[in-house]
Amino acid sequence: MNILLIGSGGREHCMAWKMAQSPLCSKLYIAPGNAGSAQVGENVDLALKAPFDAVKDFVTNHQIELVAVGPEAPLVDGLADALIDAGVKVFGPRKGAALLEGSKDFAKQLMQDAGVPTGAYATFDNRADAEAYIDANAAPYVLKYDGLAAGKGVSIHPDADDAKAQLKAIFEDNIFGDDAPRVVVEEFLTGQEASMLAFVDGKTVRRMEAAQDHKQIGEGDTGPNTGGMGAYSPTPVVDEAMAERIDREILQPVVAEFQRRNLPYVGVLYAGLMVGDDGPKVIEFNVRFGDPETQCVLPRLKSDLVEVMLACCEGRLDQITLEWDSRTAIGVVAASAGYPGSYAKGKVIAGVDAVGESDEHMVFHAGVASQNSELVTSGGRVLCVTALGDGLRDAQSKCYALMDKIEFEGKTIRRDIGNRVLG
Ligand code: AMP
Ligand code: GLY
Repeated sequence: MNILLIGSGGREHCMAWKMAQSPLCSKLYIAPGNAGSAQVGENVDLALKAPFDAVKDFVTNHQIELVAVGPEAPLVDGLADALIDAGVKVFGPRKGAALLEGSKDFAKQLMQDAGVPTGAYATFDNRADAEAYIDANAAPYVLKYDGLAAGKGVSIHPDADDAKAQLKAIFEDNIFGDDAPRVVVEEFLTGQEASMLAFVDGKTVRRMEAAQDHKQIGEGDTGPNTGGMGAYSPTPVVDEAMAERIDREILQPVVAEFQRRNLPYVGVLYAGLMVGDDGPKVIEFNVRFGDPETQCVLPRLKSDLVEVMLACCEGRLDQITLEWDSRTAIGVVAASAGYPGSYAKGKVIAGVDAVGESDEHMVFHAGVASQNSELVTSGGRVLCVTALGDGLRDAQSKCYALMDKIEFEGKTIRRDIGNRVLG
């Protein structure tokens, strides 16, 4: 069948790489894709704005039978609704369910209704009430802008003055460009962060193997948050008993709550968790694969990804058993100097061909473009080197040895991906 994948990051190169291996996939298009996805499918330029007429036309003209959506923004804007209503199978939730990522307040209310463990919170639409709440509660404070903010909507504050400065920035200085902003103030959770992703078909949940991401730019988890600088899977933080608990206490109740609300959830449900002494608590939900978690989870998935996606769209995930590679996978991201702030583009990338690909390593492109038959940087996160090994230490040493063969001006990596659990 012909398949269209939406997105352009490292996550999408990895999804495309995995989908292209499926015997069910005859032709794969990626919109807009990147230099990596162009190696496994055909990149196409499509306007991705609601009401998504360009996508609908493309799907009709190219006999697309399945559309898989990588990023959250088109889902929150209603891409799945537009296509499903036109009779196309879409791997990704409708707009109403995508609010789980699009609105922190929606997510918190849904968790409360479903009895899912998460931090205490309150939501505010004005500065004065939010400040009063800060004064009435103990530091540290977690503030979450109630809308999509490209990963910049969450801030953590050690004291009340710092939190109030952020409230001023949101409500008075309008930093999110929102005339009527709402802010969730949340309890600060402690423990180890882990990501548990699951396939969902509206009623059945098939969890993937857990991963751990490293969100901060600096080694030792310092500096500003990024989209993610490296991840590995599996992780000792989520053993089988913990995975079953997350499934039972978090994933299943959320999917059941969506069913109860008549908003059946289809696609990937991503739970960002804090695993502490009193069990797992939800930090956030995403309605898509994680980046770079995908680049270490999908290389371990032995099952046919297209078959699993179709089962999700057709409500028959209960007939699917996911098969996993027992090896450990680690993905380390190379970013442009300056990221997550401003950075230069167009730097020539050397060494990718020399590194190549094997059963135990891959290079997934993110901000990479082809220019005059050379690879050049075109984004903040440039690429991710994934290596599989016999345990985390083995995977880690293979991964860094390969990463050291890739060069571009300003290349920025964290050398400590995985150290958190290696001790
Ligand atoms: P998010 O954008 O929701 O993933 O949040 C970004 C990061 O902020 C998370 O990866 C956590 O490290 C941190 N964070 C978010 N919420 C909390 C919380 N309630 N307690 C502690 N850390 C948090
Ligand atoms: N790696 C975190 C995310 O995809 O949101």
